[in-house]
Amino acid sequence: MKKILITGGSGFIGTNFINLISKKKLKILNIDKISKISTAEKFKKIHSTKNYSFVKYNLSDKRRLLSIFNKFKPDIVVNFAAESHVDRSISDPIYFIKNNIISSTNLFFSYKEYFKKRKIKLFHISTDEVYGSIRQGQFKENDNYNPSSPYSASKASSDLIAKAFNRTYKTKIKILNLTNNFGPYQYPEKFIPTLIFHFLKNKKAPIYGAGLNIREWMYVDDCCNAIVKCIFSDVKYEQLNIGSGVRITNLDLAKLLFKIMKKRKLTKLKENNFLKNVKDRPGHDIRYALNSNFFKKNIKLNISKNLKNGLISTINWYIENKKWLKSVNKSYDFKRLGLID
Ligand SMILES: NC(=O)c1ccc[n+]([C@@H]2O[C@H](COP(=O)([O-])OP(=O)(O)OC[C@H]3O[C@@H](n4cnc5c(N)ncnc54)[C@H](O)[C@@H]3O)[C@@H](O)[C@H]2O)c1
Repeated sequence: MKKILITGGSGFIGTNFINLISKKKLKILNIDKISKISTAEKFKKIHSTKNYSFVKYNLSDKRRLLSIFNKFKPDIVVNFAAESHVDRSISDPIYFIKNNIISSTNLFFSYKEYFKKRKIKLFHISTDEVYGSIRQGQFKENDNYNPSSPYSASKASSDLIAKAFNRTYKTKIKILNLTNNFGPYQYPEKFIPTLIFHFLKNKKAPIYGAGLNIREWMYVDDCCNAIVKCIFSDVKYEQLNIGSGVRITNLDLAKLLFKIMKKRKLTKLKENNFLKNVKDRPGHDIRYALNSNFFKKNIKLNISKNLKNGLISTINWYIENKKWLKSVNKSYDFKRLGLID
């Protein structure tokens, strides 16, 4: 049975990824430091089965990492671990830079030591945000990085370190640049859960600036399936964009989500009065767009949910999973972060 080492498997995408692969014949080890946004182990469908184990460990400390590799003997590594909230990175850039760059480098370092014995692949999960904003067209894999926030700069740095390791140590780190994900287990401070919770509470939802920033969205299960396909594919690449091509302004997304909830009588807010414009994010990128042609052609993308269906599933999940919500809300103070004056 193949063994997969997952880092950051208690965050939003990692939790969905582990739930998805738990149906496959795989031995899974999840390493996560468990931060306030993490999902507790008891909410993992797989947590008490013999094919899953968990180590609470901060990758910023490299001392025990290689011994974890040597003991578990992974066949595949997937790195989701990162601080991921842009507004938090604006409030506390040093923490983000230290955490995201050092934790990835420590992981790459232990992996390259282990790689001397076993030539396995490490999939490093990155973001479309590293390329920066693009008013028209799409970013390709070989385009220059031009990040705007401390978060995206820290992710860009760790991607470059991954490439440097490949060149210097001849390792096999694959960088997967994902677009915005949405779906179950996403911490309530992110955009879509924020909209859902405000509408459910009949409160107008905040929208940054005029709401005209464009993002590319993918339902998290589709994205996790795409990552699984990459893991089991023999196609050669170092870096891969994985996007849905579904691009929409924040304003139009809020309108669509409101329409769905209003139709189902999940909110009492009025059609013409459900948003409040708040101060824009400093350095807010206007548009993200990935060219995912290589992935579509060579690895193939199955989008099971269009945006509307994905939003319906997401709303249903949050309504049905009150225990999870109660548990994460304990750590969330709903304060606006990332304003600089
Ligand atoms: N969510 C998105 O829309 C999106 C889009 C593109 C790329 N990404 C990338 O995908 C990855 C996962 O994103 P997410 O939304 O699940 O993030 P998340 O913030 O929900 O989860 C990240 C997890 O990593 C863990 N972690 C962070 N630093 C760690 C460390 N030093 N040691 C051990 N564990 C650590 C956290 O405790 C958390 O459980 C991130 O690398 C992110 O940059 C996310």
